[in-house]
Amino acid sequence: MDYEIIINKNKCIKNEELPKKLVAIGKNEHPTISFENETDDILLEETAALFFIKMMNDFNSSHINKLIPDSGYRTIERQKRLLKYYYDRDGEEAFSYVAPPRSSEHHTGLAIDIALIINGKYTDDITGEEEEIIDLQSICYKYGYILRYPKGKEEITGYKYEPWHFRFVGLNLAKRIHESGLTLEEIKQLKYVKKLK
Ligand code: DAL
Ligand code: ZN
Repeated sequence: MDYEIIINKNKCIKNEELPKKLVAIGKNEHPTISFENETDDILLEETAALFFIKMMNDFNSSHINKLIPDSGYRTIERQKRLLKYYYDRDGEEAFSYVAPPRSSEHHTGLAIDIALIINGKYTDDITGEEEEIIDLQSICYKYGYILRYPKGKEEITGYKYEPWHFRFVGLNLAKRIHESGLTLEEIKQLKYVKKLK
């Protein structure tokens, strides 16, 4: 598995890039939208899953409010249904926060959306102002994760700020992205330019 893979509006996932081994990291007990014949297991690629579980356990043992996984691996069919659902609700606006099928990095099994249990109450209505999310965003690189759609980088990533969406890229790249403040798109482009020189 290429943990540095880039999937975005300009780069669809190919069949051979789909994850080979998925592992359940929890159950979705609060699905915002559920479709027929879908598992409620939240799945991640196996290495991404190991690092996520470690991050979640470390985080939860040092915080009163807890983080829980909300959405991990998605099939292309699910993404199709999600986009249709939001397009029917919000029209073109939906493209600023839902990826078209095959363009979502949730297909890689390397992306995870987080929800919180605040004072015992589940919320996936994350604004990015929560102390827990601020903490998570600052330490996730130690577990190979990055905040994938940061504030101020909408033009580059193609999406609105998503304070809840984290992406496993491996320890080395996560550290470089954390230290540079660049997005995955920008750092990949830098690498490409260096190769040309
Ligand atoms: N919300 C992100 C962009 C996705 O649908 O993959
Ligand atoms: Zn997401």
